[in-house]
Amino acid sequence: MLLTEIYKKGEAELRTRDIGWLLDGVETEFVISNNRRVLDQFTVRQRCIDGASADTGCTVLGLELKTPVIMSSMTMPIPAIMEDGLLQVAKGLKEAGSLIWTGTPVPQNLKDIVATGVPVAANVKPLINREKMFEAIDEVQSAGVSWIGIEIDSGQGTKIHDRQVASDCSPLSLEELKEIRKRVFTPLIFKGVLSQEDADKSLEAGADGIFVSNHGAHTLDYLPHPFQVMDEIVEIVQGEAVMLVDSGFRRGSDVFKGLAFGAQLVGLGRPILYGLAAHGAEGVRQVIHEITRELERFMSMTGSVDSKHVKRDLLIKA
Ligand SMILES: Cc1cc2nc3c(=O)[nH]c(=O)nc-3n(C[C@H](O)[C@H](O)[C@H](O)COP(=O)(O)O)c2cc1C
Repeated sequence: MLLTEIYKKGEAELRTRDIGWLLDGVETEFVISNNRRVLDQFTVRQRCIDGASADTGCTVLGLELKTPVIMSSMTMPIPAIMEDGLLQVAKGLKEAGSLIWTGTPVPQNLKDIVATGVPVAANVKPLINREKMFEAIDEVQSAGVSWIGIEIDSGQGTKIHDRQVASDCSPLSLEELKEIRKRVFTPLIFKGVLSQEDADKSLEAGADGIFVSNHGAHTLDYLPHPFQVMDEIVEIVQGEAVMLVDSGFRRGSDVFKGLAFGAQLVGLGRPILYGLAAHGAEGVRQVIHEITRELERFMSMTGSVDSKHVKRDLLIKA
């Protein structure tokens, strides 16, 4: 099945269910339309003579992956799509050589997900009840996940349309981030960095990874797309920590642009849900596979032998 067909079938399937609204964005939904608009603002410089065969494999924070295309953090709608949905997603991602990233709530079967052998990362929200937040950190850590992510951008919870979804959160201070660092033994990633100031503080707190993200339009309205701020964030982060990006990425061309902006990994939120809803584990595998194949074509036709060679000068503002 073609990528567009998976997206169409998956979204149509989800829209018929009472979880369909989870695909929408906060308040005016500006962030969703702006994500696509900004991604489309960049064209690609072709350098095809002597075109390289491209290798999409990468090693990031100790994990070897066949593709820089990974799942972004989600738990909530997946068991509602399919009872054993998280295990199906894990299966599909493992077969694609990718990584699963769980979110809120911490999946009850997190240990089973880890046992499938797929690389696993897990996010934790900045719960107002900090004791509970630390318990969640300990819980995912003892389940054996490879990386832990902290949603620094969920300080005012999450919101879709006018409905507050998570409301039990409050912003973390630099001191608290340092405390979290002391408690976490895996690589630690701060998600939702959209400014030089937060990048700077994240590094000061000891982050191994900076996830540039507007949370796929589930936190504040009128946040920029990562590409509007990544050049300034790279200045701070380059050589100090790994950079990851998500928010609106749908095609291999989008992922290529994310790598060119300096990310080592690019996350997909809704496309994973579409893949699962359309075809279960095989749908998820196919989404990653097709996007990786598209990425490979772009890398080859721009003389980029591997993802480290996808450079910023390969993008031309439209
Ligand atoms: C239904 C849904 C649930 C989500 N749950 C979480 C979560 O628990 N934790 C988190 O950090 N991000 C969560 N996100 C945000 C995603 O991790 C990701 O940042 C966003 O979806 C990327 O944008 P995209 O869907 O356009 O690819 C969720 C997104 C969706 C659509």
